[in-house]
Amino acid sequence: MHIIVMVGLPGRGKSYMAMRLCRWLQWKNIDCKIFNAGDYRRKFLEKEHTFTDYSWFSPNSSTFALKENIAESALKDLINWMKQESSNKKVAIFDATNSTNNRRDKIKKMLSDVVNENQILFVESICDDQSIINSNFIEDKKNNEDYVDKPVDDAHEDFQKRIKEYEKNYESINDNEIYIKIYNIGKKFIMNKLSSNFQTKMAYFLMNLNKKRITIYLTRHGQSQDQLLSKIGGNSNLTDHGKKYADRLLNYFDLSNNEQYDILCSDLMRAKNTANVFRSNNKYNVEIHKELNEIYGGEFEGMTYEQIKEKHPLIYNLRDNNKYKNSWPGGESYYDLTVRLEPILLRIECNKNKLIIVAHQAICRIFYAYLMNIDPKDCVNLEIKSHRLYEFTQEKHHRQVKWYDL
Ligand code: F6P
Repeated sequence: MHIIVMVGLPGRGKSYMAMRLCRWLQWKNIDCKIFNAGDYRRKFLEKEHTFTDYSWFSPNSSTFALKENIAESALKDLINWMKQESSNKKVAIFDATNSTNNRRDKIKKMLSDVVNENQILFVESICDDQSIINSNFIEDKKNNEDYVDKPVDDAHEDFQKRIKEYEKNYESINDNEIYIKIYNIGKKFIMNKLSSNFQTKMAYFLMNLNKKRITIYLTRHGQSQDQLLSKIGGNSNLTDHGKKYADRLLNYFDLSNNEQYDILCSDLMRAKNTANVFRSNNKYNVEIHKELNEIYGGEFEGMTYEQIKEKHPLIYNLRDNNKYKNSWPGGESYYDLTVRLEPILLRIECNKNKLIIVAHQAICRIFYAYLMNIDPKDCVNLEIKSHRLYEFTQEKHHRQVKWYDL
């Protein structure tokens, strides 16, 4: 069991980091949950029909104690959740400003009910670059529920004043604690007393995490000769129809803008020859990754589903009933893919350029599940159409998907 306590002034990207960390951990089969004090406050105040301007957050205001109590009730829920039984490892993230030593001492005291001190990791986001703070505001806060009916300029002004209120009492974490300090969204890191494999892994993830929300494109390769014959697996080339899709794909991006793209494609001919069209222009950087190869069909590679059903009905049904767990003989399951694709999923979190992934049906299902917060067990029959380009964008803290049939 581990607890991550976020620390930092408003607008320092804490919630974004918490959310990305949480998705990553959930993917690794860890029960992870975020307890966000801001959400608790909004829920509480919704009932009271009260609007909270910056003065509500002032350490001198009469509402200060109420604010502290609301954060405490989020922490109590976190503790109760940690106490519930689970067959998986558990990680809770307490997402709040937690910006004074006094508040952090109280947190540690309360958490001693469920974990020891070595299991508490503080993650502090420190930012003095006003342009980053402004762009955080533009990316997140304009959609913030606190300012739903406010013009953006008024919201921005109020938010700056809120930060000033927190600055009055702000204390950075001292060296007695286990912490990771992140300066200006990843320009500098300081780590202190990290004591477990889990904590160093969190540091690694946060050091790689890209704050810039890049757009990710996903597509299957163009139609292949084996696909035309309904054969699974193999390494056949594109049909003429498939080659035309590759051209339309290039055309789509060539016309859209002049930005740099990283193209990741599998090491199979049908994917490489789809992605090869991008080698014509140096705004594209094409990389081949074996991890992106299609799910391996073992002894049944090259057969059609009809042939498998006829010759091996038991195996067919076994796999069909649980593709997440079961594979064709000697082949891979969808679970195997979640493990194989981990380095590429990490790449998604840290890539600076827009990404285009050219892969295969099963591989695209896994990416779709990861990006859209779907349990990988529920993605094994997801429809991923050929010659369709999926576009994933980051909207506030969630990704959205659009698609284009080219
Ligand atoms: O049929 C195309 C294909 O990419 C095969 O190569 C692969 O075995 C299959 O899809 C994976 O889909 P499913 O898990 O539904 O069998």
